[in-house]
Parts: sequence; structure tokens; C-alpha cells
Amino acid sequence: MPQSPESSSIQHSTDPLAQLILHRRTISPKHYSEEVPTPNDVIEAIDIARNAPNHHRTEPCRFYLLDKARIREIGRLFGEVVRGDNPTPELQTRGDSKAKQWGAAPGLLVVTQFTPRASFLVENKPEVVREDYATCCCIVQNLLLLFENAGISAKWSTGPVWEHPSFRKVVGIQQPAPDEEVVALVFYGKSDLPGKVRPLSGLDEILVNHCQG
Ligand SMILES: Cc1cc2nc3c(=O)[nH]c(=O)nc-3n(C[C@H](O)[C@H](O)[C@H](O)COP(=O)(O)O)c2cc1C
Repeated sequence: MPQSPESSSIQHSTDPLAQLILHRRTISPKHYSEEVPTPNDVIEAIDIARNAPNHHRTEPCRFYLLDKARIREIGRLFGEVVRGDNPTPELQTRGDSKAKQWGAAPGLLVVTQFTPRASFLVENKPEVVREDYATCCCIVQNLLLLFENAGISAKWSTGPVWEHPSFRKVVGIQQPAPDEEVVALVFYGKSDLPGKVRPLSGLDEILVNHCQG
């Protein structure tokens, strides 16, 4: 783990938020136990997580917390998307495996972005679409960190299940595309896998320019 300069008030090794950020890892549904985190925990996390930077205060995120039956159905739909119209044996196996893995997940939260294209704001400032997406991504990361802190493992997926014509109906998505689009399928559950710190490239490769403190 990199060392923080002694003069920094933010320390890799002692700051609880730094520890949370460093140890959060994507954990896939195949590693979850059968224990199901309570919907109330997730709802509380959503309520906190939505406190994210949001230009024009548009509050663009929408949340769909699925029950077991709908999770199974989403798994089935993703299996069909993966298999395609003329599946090879390989695609058939992959589709079956995805359907099983997704369908058995203990928890699934679908997060969407709602940015009505015909609004006065978007017509005058088309960049709001991108800014709203940025806000939704901040909110998803807030959620993942809150989950991590509560001992809930999660995975942000963009597996294109929304290409399935039945996806919107199964989830209950309120608005048509492109006004409302999926940002994340957040699978969640309990797992014993430790969140190891991931080695990243050297700081000097990405900190392109900085003042001397
Ligand atoms: C926008 C976004 C989409 C993602 N979609 C997928 C996905 O479809 N399938 C997948 O296995 N992981 C997906 N991930 C998870 C990344 O693969 C994961 O964050 C990455 O491997 C780094 O691992 P970490 O989260 O443990 O740091 C996605 C992450 C983000 C931010």
C-alpha cells in the first residue's frame, strides 16, 4: 500500500474512509451466500447515497429494488440476450450459466438515469445529460461504499440485459428511452471474500502536473 506523506492530513493507513475506498472490491454474485441483506438496509443506503454532487439539482437517479421473482426473471432474460437468436454451443452454455448466476443473486438493485430530453433545461444545456450521468455514477459509488461499510458485497454490472424487449416491463421502468436509461445493475449479497487492495499504476503516471506543497 502506498505511503502517505507525513504532512498529509489524509492517511492511507489510518483514515477510515480511505480504508473503505481502498478495500472495496467488486464481488460477483457467484461468491454470495444465501443470506439476504434486508431491503431496509438498502433503502437507507439509497437515501444516504443520493447526497452526491448534482449540477442543476436535477436528482436524476431512479432506483428499482427487485424481489426474488423479478431477479430470477432478469436472470432468465439475460440468458436469452447472451444466447442470441442462433446460439453456438458455447453461447448456449454461457447463457445458461449467466441465467443461473444472475437469477440466484440474493439482491439486485437497478439504478437508472432519468433526464427528460424535451425539458427546457436539456434543450438549452445539452451537457446536462452527461452531467446527470456523472451524478448517477457518484451515487452508485456512494452506495457501494455504504454497502462495504455494512458488510454487504456488491457488483456494478452493465451486462446488456436491457437489450431484451421485456426488460423495462419486468423492472417496471417508468419512462421510455432515451429519457430513462440504465446506469447500473447492482448485485449485492453477503460474502466472506476479503477486499484486497488493488495495486494501481504509479501515481506519477496519472498525476500529470501538481504544485509543490
Ligand atoms: C460502469 C461500470 C460497468 C461495469 N460493468 C461490469 C460488467 O458488466 N461486468 C463485470 O464483470 N464487471 C463490471 N464492472 C465492474 C468492474 O469490472 C470492476 O469495477 C473492475 O474490474 C475493478 O474491480 P474493483 O471494483 O474490485 O476495483 C463495471 C464497473 C463499472 C464502473
